Amino acid sequence: MFDLSQFSLKGKVAIVTGGSRGIGQAIAYGFAKAGAKVAITSRKVQDLEATASEMTGIGCDVLVVPAHLGKFEEIQRVVDTVLEKFGRIDILVNNAGASPAMASVLETDERLWDTIMNLNLKGVYFMSQAVARVMKKQGGGKIINIASIDGFNPEPFVSVYSISKAGVRHITRTFAMELARENIQVNTICPGPISTKMMNSHWAHLPPDEAKKQKEEMCQHLPTCRIGEPDEIAGAAIYLASEASNYTTGAEIVIDGAFLLGLH
Ligand SMILES: NC(=O)c1ccc[n+]([C@@H]2O[C@H](COP(=O)([O-])OP(=O)(O)OC[C@H]3O[C@@H](n4cnc5c(N)ncnc54)[C@H](OP(=O)(O)O)[C@@H]3O)[C@@H](O)[C@H]2O)c1
Repeated sequence: MFDLSQFSLKGKVAIVTGGSRGIGQAIAYGFAKAGAKVAITSRKVQDLEATASEMTGIGCDVLVVPAHLGKFEEIQRVVDTVLEKFGRIDILVNNAGASPAMASVLETDERLWDTIMNLNLKGVYFMSQAVARVMKKQGGGKIINIASIDGFNPEPFVSVYSISKAGVRHITRTFAMELARENIQVNTICPGPISTKMMNSHWAHLPPDEAKKQKEEMCQHLPTCRIGEPDEIAGAAIYLASEASNYTTGAEIVIDGAFLLGLH
């Protein structure tokens, strides 16, 4: 009979990339509440420390690892640092992602392409590889990749981001197939619009009143008439990190308030 304890992450060690704010922070808090030891990584140490302090407050054993995950050479250092502190890695959430500028396909230059692809795609691939090598030795693990609905339906003026997120969906499928026999489950969460710094950057250049107006106008066009909250992604991540999902691999969970359906 199914037991709710299958959702527990007690005794598990997790890495959440981009864990200092937004969706990654909500997942890190969720993992902490589910009993995991959590390593959070991103570039700005102050943001990491602030998040870690909240997590310590709820009894979590937390490790802060500042790193630029768009730099290949930083990846193994993160993995080694986590192993040094916790001795194992059971869960990896590849959440760190960015789309630093909007540009048409006619204007996009190589620098923008490399910045986005190095983090969103290359970083996810090689982080997964480095952690999966550890998981294989341990006898299993869970990898969760945060893609986007833009990986289904490309968004105008963020072509490289959209392409990278389509690629993340395929990273999941390729790793899931090859690693199924190693008892490593690899899955994707595809968020729709979620209220974070990344989302709010759409309106950051506008005066506050105009930003509020444009945001409200956008919400009117959403099936749920609202933007989602980071916490609304955490539950799916806990499921995919837990034993409850042991037969779920190569799958995608779209959490978008029916945004994609609303496009048809
Ligand atoms: N918000 C949405 O509507 C939405 C929708 C679909 C998908 N997503 C995806 O969800 C994930 C999280 O997005 P979010 O909205 O929570 O974004 P966010 O608020 O901008 O947070 C991004 C996180 O990633 C870290 N990060 C950024 N660049 C990094 C780098 N080069 N190396 C290491 N860490 C880096 C950031 O910290 P530092 O800046 O300190 O490095 C931060 O912790 C992303 O993959 C995004 O594509 C978001």
